[in-house]
Amino acid sequence: MATDASTDASTASNPLPRFPDGFLWGVSTSAHQIEGAAELRGPSVWDAFTAEPGRIKDGSTAAVACDHYHRYREDVALLADLGVDAYRFSVSWPRVDSPGGVGLDFYDRLVDELCAAGVRPVPTLFHWDLPAGLDWLERDTAARFAEYVSVVARRLGDRVGKWITLNEPAEHTLLGHALGIHAPGRELLFDALPVAHHQLLAHGLAVRALRASGATDVGIANSHGPTWPASDDPADREAADFYDLLLNRMFADPILTGRYPEGIGELMPGSAERIAADLEIIAEPLDWYGVNYYAPTRVGAPQGAEIEFGGVTLPAELPFSVREIEGRPRTDFGWPVVPEGLTELLTGFRDRYGDRLPPVVITENGCSYEGLDDRDRVAYLDGHVRALHRASEAGVDVRGYFVWSLLDNFEWAEGYARRFGLVHVDFATLERTPKASYGWFRDLIADQRRGPVG
Ligand code: BGC
Repeated sequence: MATDASTDASTASNPLPRFPDGFLWGVSTSAHQIEGAAELRGPSVWDAFTAEPGRIKDGSTAAVACDHYHRYREDVALLADLGVDAYRFSVSWPRVDSPGGVGLDFYDRLVDELCAAGVRPVPTLFHWDLPAGLDWLERDTAARFAEYVSVVARRLGDRVGKWITLNEPAEHTLLGHALGIHAPGRELLFDALPVAHHQLLAHGLAVRALRASGATDVGIANSHGPTWPASDDPADREAADFYDLLLNRMFADPILTGRYPEGIGELMPGSAERIAADLEIIAEPLDWYGVNYYAPTRVGAPQGAEIEFGGVTLPAELPFSVREIEGRPRTDFGWPVVPEGLTELLTGFRDRYGDRLPPVVITENGCSYEGLDDRDRVAYLDGHVRALHRASEAGVDVRGYFVWSLLDNFEWAEGYARRFGLVHVDFATLERTPKASYGWFRDLIADQRRGPVG
């Protein structure tokens, strides 16, 4: 393992501003994307989905992935060398559920290794790998989730302080249940809404379960991004507003205000009384709110035809259409690079939610680029860290920034074709090689610890 990656400090002439003391610098991963050792856990909805021909673009599976399950010591050493304060990983529910309960032993070992290396463990309790046989269309899945969360909290709670309930229920609803691009591969369009409600309920029940186990530092990782109308035309503005409701407000409003945006609560499964009672659970106060940010979306009125967008085919019957954001650099995934979208998003949240918005942590931000000398990734991350600082100067209480991701990994329906890592993984040999961006992030963290720069 080579760890001498370092950049030419291309930004040294324009030093990064200093973030507040106690600000958490970290990196994120998820279980299904890196662990492998599929034979040592129960099956998940992703195993069945991956086995269907044509679902994963390069025909790969996550059976081995980065083999993190067996190589976690090497990966924790990479974290220690990087100097991060915290590591966000996810706990695999199908592994915890595996016969004999041995799955939790793995997380025990991982958490011990992290603590010994001085890196704070920040587990996410659900990052899309639902045990096979469970279904988010069923309300009972929320209760089952809370039981599993209690088991994990009892086992790890003596060493884990900071918890994340769910990763991106919006994307899991949209990609997995509305559009069929992710597991479990359903194409329910608006009939997928119960999946959103049941995950939100699962979140609230998990917060209660964590509190019952004594946890005092609990958040969620929700995906958000500004929605830009394609034009001032009222039809475009209306379509953009609806898209914003689906991606942003439908998932943030219930958690932060205890209400669904107008017109949405009526579409959720169950009587008005039951939804109102659920919303009380969903709005359990959080210690912080996690935001995964990648890019804004430009949205216009429907165009009556399928749209190819960012590797995804959107059906013609959607009440909006997604348009390209022109004139911006693009990642290998085709996503536009728009750092100021992060400032806009966070100041918009502060304006919308006011005192109801707890401190914010960026739980994911990153980009896919090939190559070890990944200056494009350095430029992307540098721009977004500066944009985050601008949000902080504008009065948003930001407390942390986690890069997606530590390692190149199984990028869901894209297989191994998209590389988001600060560390390159050779998927034939599983060798890890830090990229230039790893050296850049290490230098940034060291500079921040040294005190004011510039
Ligand atoms: C997800 C990650 C994913 C990343 C890049 C996020 O939406 O939480 O699992 O790898 O985006 O697509």
